[in-house]
Amino acid sequence: MTQERKAPQITVLDAGGQYCHLIARKIRELGVSAEVRASDTSAGELRGRKGIVISGGPASVYEAGSPRIDPRILHLPGAAVLGICYGLQIMAHELGGEVIRGEKGEYGMAVLRTAGSHPLLAGLNGETRVWMSHRDRVEAPPPDFISIAATTECPVAAMAHTTLPLFGLQFHPEVVHTEHGKEIYANFLFRICGCERDWDPRGRVLEIEADIRRFAGDRNVFFFVSGGVDSTVAFTLCLRALGPERVYGVYVDTGLMREGETEFVENVFAKLGAAQFHVEDARARFLGALEGVIEPEEKRKRIGEEFVAVQERILSGGDFLSGRWILGQGTIYPDTIESGGAAKADVIKTHHNRVAGIQMLIDEGRIVEPLSSFYKDEVRQAGGELGIPREFLDRHPFPGPGLAIRCLCSESEAPVERVGDGWILPVRSVGVQGDSRSYRQVLLVDGAPGDPGLHERATTLVNREVRVNRVIVRGGGAAPETLRRTRGTVTKDRLDRLRAADAVVRRLAAGQDFDGGIWQFPVILIPIGAADRPDSIVLRPVHSVDGMTAESVSIPAPLMTAFCQSLLALPGIAAVFHDLTHKPPGTIEWE
Ligand code: XMP
Repeated sequence: MTQERKAPQITVLDAGGQYCHLIARKIRELGVSAEVRASDTSAGELRGRKGIVISGGPASVYEAGSPRIDPRILHLPGAAVLGICYGLQIMAHELGGEVIRGEKGEYGMAVLRTAGSHPLLAGLNGETRVWMSHRDRVEAPPPDFISIAATTECPVAAMAHTTLPLFGLQFHPEVVHTEHGKEIYANFLFRICGCERDWDPRGRVLEIEADIRRFAGDRNVFFFVSGGVDSTVAFTLCLRALGPERVYGVYVDTGLMREGETEFVENVFAKLGAAQFHVEDARARFLGALEGVIEPEEKRKRIGEEFVAVQERILSGGDFLSGRWILGQGTIYPDTIESGGAAKADVIKTHHNRVAGIQMLIDEGRIVEPLSSFYKDEVRQAGGELGIPREFLDRHPFPGPGLAIRCLCSESEAPVERVGDGWILPVRSVGVQGDSRSYRQVLLVDGAPGDPGLHERATTLVNREVRVNRVIVRGGGAAPETLRRTRGTVTKDRLDRLRAADAVVRRLAAGQDFDGGIWQFPVILIPIGAADRPDSIVLRPVHSVDGMTAESVSIPAPLMTAFCQSLLALPGIAAVFHDLTHKPPGTIEWE
């Protein structure tokens, strides 16, 4: 679906990683239209922008192949430029300032002292707390620039040109830890760039519906829905635009979903007025495909292949490939642009594009993606506007391969091992160190689950004990010395055990309002057992903004007690653990 829209007021140039999306989201939250483009987008393509933000990124301006900018953007008529972190360094480097290579860098909170009252920092008086994350730094600003704020480690924490609208910040105003980050962006947008408020996802609903009608013409729309927020909101927009007779949805029941999920999804779609909604029962096929599989990536691959087969069968079974149908998808903005933050989404969603029928529809341009300009939180806002219930829109993200990647497997028995800090559990859990995923064992530390010091110790312990990726603590159940690794794959019995445990945890967490404040709460089944109970449960509540990094969350003692009591009352569960590991070095899922 092509949309003729006027250019956004602000462009964020992507110098790597997740920062650019965070910046664009913050700007949109302030009501100003913003897009993300590649860092080297030419000045000609950015004509007419009121402002350009050069994002942060992990590179050094001295590294070969580090992101570059078109220097002419620094002189674009009518556009102010703000460099953030790496963006500040590249601006300084281009304009003749001195960037020095840092040995150890500066990470975490710092106190910023402002010099004078610059409009960019209006409202910040004296000292304020900011979030720093950099190795290199600007030692001396370029000619005609002045330093407008400093920290103890960093003499040029903020700089501004004396006459041109060029600015740079070494810290990250887009992260929540920076005290007045939002004010700084508001200063840039409204005081410096002269932006007007032109962005409200709720206000776009009618416009998008009109676009859908125009694009569809007299064709009908077909969706594979997942029960997730994006595909449901996209489906609802099409439903409103074209009416219930012209929008068809299929939900594939893989048998890898949470308890009550299929009924829940059916119910939501019925309430939304979907007249043509079909549940494809593929449970036996998915279970068959996973038989005997141990390796996480092999599980993902088999699930992906099964999805391809089911979708292929459905597409060729109806007349969906005829010219009368187009395919609807819930693609959102970060998935449409190539950047570090989208890399994972590309990997995860590849199976869709391997379906020959879908590829044909894509090649023919018969795809409608009503949410392709929205971020996740904007999809939720639009969904609220469409009357989709809050309890649905606020659901935690849930991985496509479902419970299969929360059901760890093992082909043989093995003992646990006593080490200085606790016990090594010989299961393979996934982590991220640097840019790569690694599969290692798990350290069960001695200690009580409520001890806040344990969270901080977890990272140190992972760094020290090279064999492990994760640190967990025991909440209740069998004593560590009685535990052993058991044999187990993705079977109906183990999935039912995990589903029951997950349902218990969800019920208790929702009852105590613990669920609302967190990003995701995986419940994981691991093949660690004692006596006649073959498995254990790991609780993994995390805070996150976008899933790229995450913090392990403490569980209040009374809730932990309630979890343990209910989980240990289920058959087959030997012990309950709490995962203390942040991401990095752990990941959110265990796989
Ligand atoms: P990790 O485990 O890498 O997860 O920290 C980050 C986010 O991605 C989700 N995730 C997946 N989603 N298919 C998906 O659709 C997958 O294979 C998959 N693996 C992880 C995870 O739930 C978290 O939100």
